[in-house]
Amino acid sequence: MKAVRLLEYGRQLVFNDVPTPAIARDEILVKIKSTAVNHLDLVKASGTARQILPIDLPWIPGHEFSGVVEQIGSDVAAYAPGDAVFAANETGGAYAEYLAVKPAAIARKPSNLSFEEAASVPVASQTAWQGIFTHGHLEKGQTILIHGGAGAVGAYAVQLASHAGATVIATASGDDEAYLNSIAASRVIDYREAQFEKVLREKVDVVFDLIGGDAQKRSFLVLKEGGHLVSAVQPVSQEEAAMHHVSGVMMRLAPSGNVLSRIARLLEERTIRPDVATVYALPDVAQAWKDIAGNLPGVHGMSPSGPGAPTRKKHGKIVLHVA
Ligand SMILES: NC(=O)c1ccc[n+]([C@@H]2O[C@H](COP(=O)([O-])OP(=O)(O)OC[C@H]3O[C@@H](n4cnc5c(N)ncnc54)[C@H](OP(=O)(O)O)[C@@H]3O)[C@@H](O)[C@H]2O)c1
Repeated sequence: MKAVRLLEYGRQLVFNDVPTPAIARDEILVKIKSTAVNHLDLVKASGTARQILPIDLPWIPGHEFSGVVEQIGSDVAAYAPGDAVFAANETGGAYAEYLAVKPAAIARKPSNLSFEEAASVPVASQTAWQGIFTHGHLEKGQTILIHGGAGAVGAYAVQLASHAGATVIATASGDDEAYLNSIAASRVIDYREAQFEKVLREKVDVVFDLIGGDAQKRSFLVLKEGGHLVSAVQPVSQEEAAMHHVSGVMMRLAPSGNVLSRIARLLEERTIRPDVATVYALPDVAQAWKDIAGNLPGVHGMSPSGPGAPTRKKHGKIVLHVA
């Protein structure tokens, strides 16, 4: 099969032929239609975080995909060849024509979404779901502050929290206000113009941190006692959390077919919507990585001001069309 691989940390990706994976009795072989690009692909490939995010080289990146079941192992009953599916996976491998996966991580593709749209959903939406519900324990009637609300994860967090009956406040660039209002944010605080802790009059039940650094530090000041600070980007100080009588956790996505099936229903009902910024063909992955590196300066030796600097639409995911 054709696949994109990283042969050495920090080096260029190569696109060529590799053996098609063989499946175990409890696995499914998926023919990949589309995959999407995540910061995580670039961070793992750079090798800068190899102690906590190790990969086996040569490595095929790609932590989410949509596709069609090609073959099932003898122990698999839940899916059959021809089923359209989508999923996130922890180890990568989706920048390829085929991927072997366990059924527990996958879900049926929403019928109203194209394969390209479906590939953009699993990582961002499940991170948002687990961040606000599993770790943030958000409930109807509560208030949540989402840092980075206009990003890929943030946009799902805004939509899911609003659908759950919470009041949603998001920090974002001022020019994202209309976008955030269109996906049901109650209030947008322009992080370039205002310090959120100075303009918020009431404290919030949950902070979902997609930014880290100073934004995370200042979040303790706006949480109610007993509230939850959940970060998807960096560890939360337990001393500070105890001092403010809140819980603090850094989450890591644990892909779940059950969660993704619930998200799929919301997409089919059009309660929430996906957002695709750009679609590239798989062999053009280098350009896709240059685009996303613009949001992640310094990673993989790519500079946002260098050649191929960001040209993409402001919101949504970068998708790779595979077949
Ligand atoms: N822990 C996990 O399992 C997990 C899973 C998925 C993602 N993540 C991480 O979560 C983070 C967000 O991912 P993403 O895909 O949503 O990123 P993204 O699409 O690049 O979005 C980032 C957003 O943050 C905004 N922003 C930048 N600085 C800000 C600030 N100080 N205050 C408020 N907003 C600010 C950006 O807007 P402007 O460009 O206009 O500034 C952009 O809209 C990344 O660090 C990613 O690696 C973690």
